Order: sequence, then structure tokens, then C-alpha cells
Amino acid sequence: MVSNILKKQPQVENKETNQRRKKVFIKTFGCQMNVNDSERIKGILASLGYEFTNDWKEADLILLNTCTVRERPDRKVLAHLGEYKKVKKINPNAKIGVCGCLAQRMGEELDKRAGGIIDIMFSSYNIHHLPELLKKAEKGEKAIEILPEPPKDEWEMFEYPTIRENPYWAFITIMKGCDKDCTYCIVPQTRGRERSRPIRSILEEIKFLVKDGVKEIHLLGQNVTAWGKDFENPIPFSYLLYKIAEIDGVERIRFTTGYPTDLTDDVIKAMGEIPQIAKALHLPFQSGSNRILKLMHRYYTKEEYLEKIQKLKEAKPGIALSADVIVGFPGETEEDFLETLDVLEKVRFEQLFSFKYSPRPGTPAAEYPNQVPDDVKTERMHRLLEVQKRIMNEEAKKYEGQTVEVLFERYSDGKLIGRSSENKWVEVNSDRKELLGKIVPVKVNKASVYVLYGDIVEN
Ligand code: SAH
Ligand code: F3S
Repeated sequence: MVSNILKKQPQVENKETNQRRKKVFIKTFGCQMNVNDSERIKGILASLGYEFTNDWKEADLILLNTCTVRERPDRKVLAHLGEYKKVKKINPNAKIGVCGCLAQRMGEELDKRAGGIIDIMFSSYNIHHLPELLKKAEKGEKAIEILPEPPKDEWEMFEYPTIRENPYWAFITIMKGCDKDCTYCIVPQTRGRERSRPIRSILEEIKFLVKDGVKEIHLLGQNVTAWGKDFENPIPFSYLLYKIAEIDGVERIRFTTGYPTDLTDDVIKAMGEIPQIAKALHLPFQSGSNRILKLMHRYYTKEEYLEKIQKLKEAKPGIALSADVIVGFPGETEEDFLETLDVLEKVRFEQLFSFKYSPRPGTPAAEYPNQVPDDVKTERMHRLLEVQKRIMNEEAKKYEGQTVEVLFERYSDGKLIGRSSENKWVEVNSDRKELLGKIVPVKVNKASVYVLYGDIVEN
């Protein structure tokens, strides 16, 4: 799927018919923002005449879009680089590129650690400089451009095409960066301060996508609920939601990731009033202990978080909630941890992303005393997962007998597969491929934690 708002076309240089088209292999680590950045990188590369391959061994260009939010992704990237460098033995002209958050954090140091095999390096600030960087690398020079902060022309990257995996839903980056200063988090260092994308640019892209057959719009930002605050004349995020809902053809809207205090009453009201907004929300709480929340510099208490959840459940009945939580933050005691488990019991999340605290270089929490030993983190994590497993099993059962609205996005082996408004995968035995890209009511017969099985409701 190619979407293009076509204000700007990169020069097509390698498209000469009698020349073999170059192949690129792209590996994306980390969050949905990186997935969306990779979609845009693919758009730029396609315009330059590149073909995509799933086999790095036959690539002329290997590109790693990296993550550094915890230590594990760091290690994964270095391990993959160790493997991919072998491509240069197969094809001495092959280039290796690294972009994204680890590139931003480590810069040339990463190239040194990887043995000097990196030809191209850029960050999420300057994806749109890729055509020039490639030209430089083709000449045999190292093309490393890690900017200390986002350039003024940053939003120009949205004038390039994107290539999406799925024709029916699309990610749309509406803001970048984060102004919060959670003491454990590296993101403000790697993604910079909050910058909101201009409303016209967002609405234009959505109109374009809808014309292209997209039904579901998934708004992205490190701190998406803060959109519009940094404009000279600030605009509330809820206003953007109403504006998007007015666009003909937008059938479903999601947004990630929200921050509890920025999820203000007007946003909750909009979620209730706008029927296209999905019945699902990801709202990280990180810890249930007010003492730990304070040490994390999260600007809410457990009670305030639970109150938000209550309001959401009232405004959007049936809403499926998910969250991120950190286990073993420095100084976390057994008592603090029990408060976290209490939030799980009270909210009953249908999905939970739980992380063992991982110290990140240059973040304040990495220097805190009372780091929790790894075996304690692991033991708490096991207990948390046990509790969560039970809750998810119980919550899944409530779907049996219910009718859910499903956007079918895939057909495979006699099955239509899609996501419900509640963000559950739903499978139906059916050959009706004409329903792909449509939102269809499905009565659920059987519910497992991750998949609902049912039949199409005929009317
Ligand atoms: N608002 C951002 C959050 C980015 S980080 C977004 O989703 O775009 C995603 C999650 O990783 C956080 O919510 C937090 O739970 C977890 N995380 C961040 N830094 C961490 C660290 N140092 N150790 C463990 N988990 C961390
Ligand atoms: Fe990180 Fe906290 Fe922002 S988790 S992305 S600093 S809201």
C-alpha cells in the first residue's frame, strides 16, 4: 500500500530500466512510532527505485531502525549488526544503515562498537535527509548525520510517501517527542521535546488515506494527548479528535500513547461522544505506589489514575483498557509492589505490558540508590504475570455471547481475521472476502485471551 500526499517527490534515480533495482532489507525494533517511521523510510526508498526483500543476504542496503528504551533492545541491535555485517562478504558494495533511538543516543560510538561497519546513520529527526545520505554513502563516504535537535524542516518528512503493510488501517504520527521527565526514561533524550504536527498537515494526510481505502486511523505520538499544547495558540487534543471524526470515511479512530494527566475531561467526553473512537485505550500507569510515582516524576497519584479509569468506563461503556507497568523501580518495596498489584485488580486490564526496570545511561533513576536486585525483579514479575493472567482469562470470558464490531483486514485459509473495536483479534470461518475492509458485527462464541472466535451477524 502506498500512500502519498505527494507534495514532494524524491528524485527517481535508480529506476533505469536496464539497471538491476537495488534491494533493501529493513529491520524495525521497538514501538509503533518506529514502525511508522519505517513506513515512511520505505516510501522514500521506493521512490528512489529500491525493491524490498525479506532476506538480508541479498540486500544492497540493510537498514536497522533501532530502539534503546531498555537494555535488551540495545543488545538485540548489536547482535543483529554482528550478523548483518556478513552481507559485505557476499556483496562488497552493500551498505549498512542504522537509524532510530539507539543511533540518536550513541551516534558514532555505535559505529565504533560495531567495528566501523556502519555506512549510514541518522535519527528520527532527519529521515527525510535519507536521499542525500545515500548519495554520500554510494560515493564510499561515511554518511553519519546525528542532529542534536530536530531541524526546522522536520515536518517535511510527512510530504514523502509511506508504504503500509495493511490497506485498511494506518498509523499517523501527530506529534513527536516528550516534555515529561520520567526519571527512568531515555525517550526525551532520543526523541527530543514535544513538537506537534500542524493540524492541516494531519487532516490532509487522513483525507488522502481515506481516499486510498483506509478505514481506521491510529494517531501516534510519544505523548499523544499533549498534542497542540506547544502551538503559539494552543489547540486542545479533543478538538483534533472532533475534526478527524468529521472527515467522511473515517470509520474508526485510535490514539497511542496517552499520559494520565493529559487525558483531560474534554478528551474523555470526546471519547464518549465520538462513535468512531474505538472502545480501547492504552494508558500507562507504571506503578501503583504513590511514593514510587513521585520518584518516577509521574504527575499523578494512584487514586487520580483510578479516577480517570472510572470516568473512562462511564464515558465509553465496555472500553478495554491496557497499560504499561514497571516492576522493580529503584527503592520499590514489597509494599509498593502490592499497590501495583492492587491497580491490576481494580482496573482489570485486558492487556498489560510489564517491564523489569532497566537503568538507562544519563537518566536520573539510573543513579538512584536502592537499585532492586534482579532476582527480586524477576520474582515480582512472575507474581504480577500470574495475577494478570487470571484477570485476562476472566475478562476474556465476558465476550462470549456478545456482539463485537470487527474491521476485517486479512483472509487466510477459510478465515476472515480482523480487530474489534476493543482491539481484540477476531476470527470467523468465512470465505466472504468482499467483507475485507468493512466493519462487521460478529457474535462471539468462544473467547481466548488473545483471540475471539465467532460468526458474522446477518441482518
Ligand atoms: N509514552 C511512550 C512511552 C515510551 S516507553 C510511548 O509509548 O510512546 C514505553 C514503556 O516502556 C513505558 O511506558 C515504560 O513502561 C517502559 N519503560 C520506559 N523506560 C523504561 C526503563 N528504563 N525500564 C523499564 N521500562 C521502561
Ligand atoms: Fe518516557 Fe515518561 Fe515521556 S515514559 S516517553 S518520559 S511520558
